[in-house]
Amino acid sequence: MKTIGVFYGSETGTTADVARRIAKELGVADADVHDVDKLSPTRLGDYDVLVLGSSTWGAGEISQSWYDFIAGAQSLALQGKQIAVFGCGDETMSDTFCDAVGEIYDALKDTGAEMIGRFNGDGYDYSSSKAERDGSFVGLVLDEVNHPDMTDGRIKAWTDQIKREIA
Ligand SMILES: Cc1cc2nc3c(=O)[nH]c(=O)nc-3n(C[C@H](O)[C@H](O)[C@H](O)COP(=O)(O)O)c2cc1C
Repeated sequence: MKTIGVFYGSETGTTADVARRIAKELGVADADVHDVDKLSPTRLGDYDVLVLGSSTWGAGEISQSWYDFIAGAQSLALQGKQIAVFGCGDETMSDTFCDAVGEIYDALKDTGAEMIGRFNGDGYDYSSSKAERDGSFVGLVLDEVNHPDMTDGRIKAWTDQIKREIA
């Protein structure tokens, strides 16, 4: 059975909460849910499957705590691992909706890991997102500000898909 680690960066706790909800759906223990702030990127080596989450801040930027961690992650040997990305944003920031998901995806897509967890969800309303490629998202995007009612269903659909992809 593959080991799964959930790693998140969160400014006000929203993505931290979502990370725990995703972990619960995937059967991941609390000890394997990590805040990337002050964590060594080498901890990624502990797992077969890496589920990585960030909120979007500024004008489409990743959560502050991700910067050093992602740079460290790029220098690791991630071949053979599977990576899924998720994030929280706000659709009213319509030109940069959940851009951090696309940023993290792009930072790690050439590391030799298999990128999994593309998401075809509907019900989104925004103009532009770096997370969107060719009509679908490169990971799970959530809007806990405007559509918290949709989060459970989206998490369930996405984690079911992750389970199939890592089987
Ligand atoms: C100053 C500021 C800038 C933000 N910029 C964006 C943005 O560019 N795109 C987006 O989708 N959401 C943006 N958001 C919304 C946050 O990503 C959203 O509130 C998220 O749920 C926060 O999650 P966190 O508590 O885990 O950091 C911004 C929020 C604030 C307060």
